[in-house]
Amino acid sequence: MTHTSGTPIFDLQAEDFGTDFVWGVSTAAYQIEGAYKADGKGKSIWDGFVTKKGSIFQDQHGQIACDFYNRYKADILLMKSMNIDHFRFSLSWSRILPNGTGKVNQKGIDFYNALIDFCLECGITPWVTLYHWDLPQALEDLGGWTNRKILHWFEAYVQICAENFGDRVKHWMVLNEPMVFTGAGYFLGVHAPGKKGLKNFLPAIHHAVLCQALGGKILRRTVPKAVIGTTFSCSQITPRSKSKKDIKAAHKADTLLNRLFIEPSLGLGYPNESIPVLRKIKKYQRPEDAQNSVFEFDFIGIQNYTREVVRHSYTVPYLRAKIVKATERNVTTTLMDWEVYPPSIYEMLKKFNAYQGVNQILITENGAAFKDRMEEGEVNDTQRTSYLQNYLAQVHKARSEGLKVSGYFVWTFTDNFEWAEGYHPRFGLVHIDFKTLKRTIKASGKWYSTFLKGRKHPK
Ligand code: NOJ
Repeated sequence: MTHTSGTPIFDLQAEDFGTDFVWGVSTAAYQIEGAYKADGKGKSIWDGFVTKKGSIFQDQHGQIACDFYNRYKADILLMKSMNIDHFRFSLSWSRILPNGTGKVNQKGIDFYNALIDFCLECGITPWVTLYHWDLPQALEDLGGWTNRKILHWFEAYVQICAENFGDRVKHWMVLNEPMVFTGAGYFLGVHAPGKKGLKNFLPAIHHAVLCQALGGKILRRTVPKAVIGTTFSCSQITPRSKSKKDIKAAHKADTLLNRLFIEPSLGLGYPNESIPVLRKIKKYQRPEDAQNSVFEFDFIGIQNYTREVVRHSYTVPYLRAKIVKATERNVTTTLMDWEVYPPSIYEMLKKFNAYQGVNQILITENGAAFKDRMEEGEVNDTQRTSYLQNYLAQVHKARSEGLKVSGYFVWTFTDNFEWAEGYHPRFGLVHIDFKTLKRTIKASGKWYSTFLKGRKHPK
């Protein structure tokens, strides 16, 4: 059905997704908390990276961000008033262990205890991500993800989190988008810690794969009734043309962007058949590693925003494949220059459903940054509402075809610090004035809360 204007009418109800379907919002510690050295918090790689001139748009940083650390109660109450009852957030490793290992900072534990308790008091289920990119700087000084010792550091950190919060937190995610933090942080150098090249990327990949499974195992043995997942970035990949070369290039991009981290966890090993350079990971592998990369997750979180069109390129080393920018393709884009392409989320659900051994799938992130305008106290972000509706319609299509998908989290609750892009791309359902830190629910936030209101059995 369409309006006469040509825009599709969204006539789905939350209940059409089933009464058990989980509806929420997602965030990450460094992007919202601020309070970067409050109460004994140690430095993370993002605290350092943002101070390097030219790393971040207009040299912005997350030292204050949304000041969620001090305003979490008001934010959770706002969330509750919007009928949102599942909240995904991450723990800041360096708040809990300022040096990455060793002495626990009780005040860090206290903060997360208070946050978790307040969520529960408000009827909001916490979904906790253990690692959303903010490695303690002290560990980076020893090589960070490139050092195999990360397995011991991570093990101790996860154990502490599981023991302290596992009595109340039942929903866990081990890693957030390992492809992005290894690729952007240890290959391209555009995210913290700003390292480059294969000599950093390959060990970082391998150690992240091992930590992903290890974290799952620790949660399983420490937290009774835990529901354990991990989350992956993913995008539909379309070859630019039907030429053999472009098709091959698209296959390689798909391997790197969509398959690299899930396949070892399912016991399929690294998908290196089309990208020979990945065979060099062998150098960092021990005989027991293949087995230790495997973990039976209760769910996989997939995070989808766009699709990529890929073409062959002689100039890109190792991959011989290049992304054709959406801005060169005459398509609708978001402020991130990502194409708005709702069928991608459906295709990704199909793709991840096709793996044997994937028990359940949730959309742990989906959302968009647009040029929001505050006018007379209101943000009328119709583009964001349509974006969410059109992607949700694809999620619904997948579900009605019998594909596994049991939840959807909007990225994100409030506008926040978008990593290297700073505060410029606003993804929130709630607007933040970064001068006064005032929160204002956008039209998209109002739509989401009305959409969620009608549910018979809110979870
Ligand atoms: C993925 C990341 O998990 C999140 O931190 C980021 O802000 C969003 N996508 C949007 O880019």
